[in-house]
Amino acid sequence: MIIITGATGALNGATADHLLQHLSPSELVVVTRDVSRAARFAALGVEVRQGDYADPGSLPAAYDGADQLLLVSSSDPAGDHVALHRNAIEAAASVGVGRILYTSHQGAAPDNPFLPGATHFATEQLLADCGVAWTSLRNGFYAHSLQWLAGPWRETGVIAVPGDGPVSWTAREDAAEAAAAILLSDGAHDGAVTLTAPAAPTFAELADTASEVSGRTVTCRVLGEDEWLAAQAEAGVPEQMAGFVLGFHRAARAGFFAGTDPLLGELLGRAPRTARDALAAPA
Ligand SMILES: NC(=O)c1ccc[n+]([C@@H]2O[C@H](COP(=O)([O-])OP(=O)(O)OC[C@H]3O[C@@H](n4cnc5c(N)ncnc54)[C@H](OP(=O)(O)O)[C@@H]3O)[C@@H](O)[C@H]2O)c1
Repeated sequence: MIIITGATGALNGATADHLLQHLSPSELVVVTRDVSRAARFAALGVEVRQGDYADPGSLPAAYDGADQLLLVSSSDPAGDHVALHRNAIEAAASVGVGRILYTSHQGAAPDNPFLPGATHFATEQLLADCGVAWTSLRNGFYAHSLQWLAGPWRETGVIAVPGDGPVSWTAREDAAEAAAAILLSDGAHDGAVTLTAPAAPTFAELADTASEVSGRTVTCRVLGEDEWLAAQAEAGVPEQMAGFVLGFHRAARAGFFAGTDPLLGELLGRAPRTARDALAAPA
């Protein structure tokens, strides 16, 4: 039996949908904080259980019986993500789950200036020490994030960034489909695996692509960090959010998202979607 958390969300919801193309509903269980949010799975005959990383007592019964358990990385902006993930991993180990899979991120490292990188790294350490077989799905940066990370280039003709670096922009839909393939491979992928699109363009290269897909000239402007932060404040971006995004740009500049890996394409059996696809998508 495969048990999935985060299936009410975009990433693991798509993974669950892919799994249901290969498994019967009785082979899948969905865990959510609020069972009413998973009604679409219940309607398909999938068992829905209640479980919340922030409520450790809820988790052992939620994860009981899993040959494989897919844990979503927490998205709670105010949460202690490592503590939440520890609750989930300890509960999984306590009920004898066969394998834990976790939605990590490319560049999981303690010194990654993009804050989730350190969280993912710490969670992977917990997985390595928990005594259960594990697979960490190090997904590339969601390509659809370009819709806001690249700013209003369609109107301005400018992509303004506080430093430039390569990023393996990866479609969330592709990462979700690959996770399903890995779950169906029943243990063929052990430890940390990297799931990225095949190329890692810089913002300067993305500006050229944006020019091609839009038919207007788009340029990349690399600003100083202070200048960029001032522009963010002027545009009404909260200071904390601007600092978070600045961490992303620093990580990109330092090469944390530069690597690419052929595994995603191999698992999909086709070429992954690209940053060009994301830029060409309607805003
Ligand atoms: N690779 C990237 O570029 C990138 C970008 C952004 C985020 N991420 C990470 O990828 C994850 C999945 O992305 P997504 O787009 O699917 O996010 P999403 O649509 O916001 O879904 C998040 C899921 O997390 C679950 N969740 C939140 N808090 C929980 C808790 N305390 N206990 C158990 N489950 C909890 C929610 O389930 P319920 O509400 O049903 O409990 C929800 O289904 C995010 O959570 C984030 O960590 C990656």
